[in-house]
Amino acid sequence: MEKYISVKDLEDAALAALPKTVRDYYKSGATDEYTLAENRRAFQRLRIRPKCLVGIKGCDTSTTILGDKVSMPVGISPTAMQRMAHPDGETATARAAQAEGVIYTLSTISTSSIEEVAQAAPNALKWFQLYIYNDREITRNLVLRAERAGFKAIALTVDTPLFGLRRADIRNKFTLPKHLKLANFEGHLSDKIHSSGEGSGLSHYVNNLFDPSLTWDEIRWLKSITKLPIIAKGILRGDDAARAARAGCAAVLVSNHGARQLDGVPATIEVLPEITAAVEQYNVEVYLDGGVTTGTDVYKALALGAKMVFVGRPALWGLAVAGQEGVQKMLNIIRKEFEYTLQIAGTQTIPEITKDMVRHEATYSR
Ligand code: FNR
Repeated sequence: MEKYISVKDLEDAALAALPKTVRDYYKSGATDEYTLAENRRAFQRLRIRPKCLVGIKGCDTSTTILGDKVSMPVGISPTAMQRMAHPDGETATARAAQAEGVIYTLSTISTSSIEEVAQAAPNALKWFQLYIYNDREITRNLVLRAERAGFKAIALTVDTPLFGLRRADIRNKFTLPKHLKLANFEGHLSDKIHSSGEGSGLSHYVNNLFDPSLTWDEIRWLKSITKLPIIAKGILRGDDAARAARAGCAAVLVSNHGARQLDGVPATIEVLPEITAAVEQYNVEVYLDGGVTTGTDVYKALALGAKMVFVGRPALWGLAVAGQEGVQKMLNIIRKEFEYTLQIAGTQTIPEITKDMVRHEATYSR
């Protein structure tokens, strides 16, 4: 494991090891993948402004998210079908999150069930990502199962009326390998994804079964069936963030779905200031995902007002390389980089990461 010094090292090793169809599914963004590259580039356009001689005596990366303590402000975003990366799939990722004291989010379309994940990592801080199916009984059942299994929040994905166009998946006629199934379901809901016909089998599955007609009223409905806090995942506009807050969400996750939905949308870090300003008057937490691969990325997002960040693909790369151990390695690389950033920037705790610690590169060339 020592040879992996960066998340990029894990990514390179994972991409070399995974079969083409899986590799393409995990790494792709929508259409031309402009936003996919921008998610990374936008972080690089920000500069950290360290303070000198502040008397560093160590650092504290811990924080509190929706009332629960986490060891660092980095959690794992939901990514579908993790058993394609490693035989233990979601159970390994959840165990890694448990060992590292960070949040694990399970996808609705996972290859390990809600109950399997709960059993594998009973003490992990687990959230459940929800897609709303046309059939509300199916949806209700998922939420109740997650609640019963000890999951602590529902991350409702709000950016997916249709699945984005991912060219590689269309070319590859992507389907789930036959030995796997969508483990939260029985019958055709669990294996319909095996038949593709034309194009991506996943797109067929989603576009037939997920409800594209959702509105903000859905939050009211969700709140009527569960006491768990609801996070709106996929917000890219300040006005939508305010709508989520007014609808009763406890948090918003600024996300462009890993640039997999609509190409040409902004990088998430670019819209973060707009979102934090829009919800200032509400009691909601703001998180971000998309393109986070280093400790300095985490630092920049926190400086611009995120309470924490999440990583999607980096967990898949760690998982593909070495299962639970690989995911822990990924988390520890980012943890170490974040600890170094905190101290060298002259800020020992998270509340000290104020807005002035980061500036856009353009402000230096004026
Ligand atoms: C995702 N994402 C996602 N989101 C969601 O709400 N439900 C899901 O099932 C999935 N599945 C999924 C699969 C794969 C392969 C990827 C790469 C992404 C989006 C995910 O939660 C997150 O928003 C992004 O992955 C964050 O960007 P990075 O960290 O991958 O750059």
